[in-house]
Amino acid sequence: MIKTTIAILAVTFSAATSHAAMFSNGATLLEAKCAVCHPSSKVKVLKRSPEQWDAIVTSMMKRGAKLNPEEKKVLVDYLAKTYKPYAGK
Ligand code: HEC
Repeated sequence: MIKTTIAILAVTFSAATSHAAMFSNGATLLEAKCAVCHPSSKVKVLKRSPEQWDAIVTSMMKRGAKLNPEEKKVLVDYLAKTYKPYAGK
């Protein structure tokens, strides 16, 4: 009985972690959630601040991009770090 419980917990835990891993990566989220309507190149040519990326992703979610709050945060962080305006000079 204890063994069965442990086995069930192990399966539940690994399923939960692999799901999290699936969308833990901003680049993956961009392809999976954003490139369904337009190519991701539309996004990658831009350079925006974190606030602007947040606004863009929020407006795309209103259009139909499906992201939960955690995924939204991961994606906005990724976009803000990867596609940011050049600092100064
Ligand atoms: C339900 C469809 C849909 C999804 C999903 C979607 N978009 Fe869009 N997106 C559009 C439409 C429609 C436009 C405006 C028409 C166009 O420019 O092609 C657009 C335009 C854009 C633009 C161009 C805006 C500009 O100023 O040129 C950006 C950037 C963008 N989307 C980013 C994203 C990001 C990031 C995601 C993922 C979070 C996303 N989109 C998901 C439909 C979508």
